[in-house]
Amino acid sequence: MITATTTKALADALAPARDGKQSIGLVPTMGALHDGHLSLISRAVKENDTVVVSIFVNPIQFNNQEDLQKYPRTLDDDLNKIEQLADGSGRKVIAFAPSVEEMYPEPVTTTYHFGPIEEVMEGPRRPGHFSGVAVVVKRLFDLVQPQRAYFGEKDFQQIAIIRELLRQTQLPITLVPCPIVRADDGLALSSRNMRLSPAARNMAPAIYATLCQAVEMSYCEELPDVKDWVADTLDTFHEVNPQPDGLQFEVEYFEIVNDTTLQPIDTWDDAPGIVGCIAVWLDGVRLIDVIRFRPEA
Ligand code: PAF
Repeated sequence: MITATTTKALADALAPARDGKQSIGLVPTMGALHDGHLSLISRAVKENDTVVVSIFVNPIQFNNQEDLQKYPRTLDDDLNKIEQLADGSGRKVIAFAPSVEEMYPEPVTTTYHFGPIEEVMEGPRRPGHFSGVAVVVKRLFDLVQPQRAYFGEKDFQQIAIIRELLRQTQLPITLVPCPIVRADDGLALSSRNMRLSPAARNMAPAIYATLCQAVEMSYCEELPDVKDWVADTLDTFHEVNPQPDGLQFEVEYFEIVNDTTLQPIDTWDDAPGIVGCIAVWLDGVRLIDVIRFRPEA
């Protein structure tokens, strides 16, 4: 494994792959790597000759400064995990961990607009977030020029945004969405999980359990009823299941949407592919998850 902290070192490390016309895969991350990230890296290592794993906590995609400050930073641990995966894979793996100044030597003035897909769910609640994601991902695409880029489906809306970014920029990059990886108790893996207290971590799997029950209900109940039931079940969870330290869920949103347009729908017949997307606060931590109600279109 090679670790590059500058764009020059990254370009040098990638030069042989470019000269030899070898395939390059990119796995963009903000570090604090967990098994979800490792599944993306493993897949990228299987499918490409050279893989770049970027580790960069991108300040311009945080609309909440506290969230940015509290975002876990575990670089040494991350590099060890990547090295273990790279070892013996027969592939060249480059960890790219630049500073903010290296990524953004000039003030960022670019703003991206994505239309209706950013006007729902995360978009209005995190102003500027998706533009900030697009700026850093476009910069990584330009620096790495990968054939494939790997993103986790937990950030379902982010994947739609990157798909639209690729359409707008016409870059010849294949987007590879990868399934959510869950803990044994069902909680979707996230770097933010490590900020949960033990009691909150015990409670958190109720999110996925509730979503799974909602899928069962969707075969006999109307869509608006299922939608309300999910929010009510989680918001009142602590009343039915008393929790220590006054812990309770606070659902920020739960939307049932067309999986392509991301627009909320009213009935189960409104779209061939349907997913439910949720954001829930627990213990001061914002958790998101996604469940599929109907097969992909
Ligand atoms: O999903 C993430 O971790 C980030 O949004 C990404 C894609 C690495 C951009 O900073």
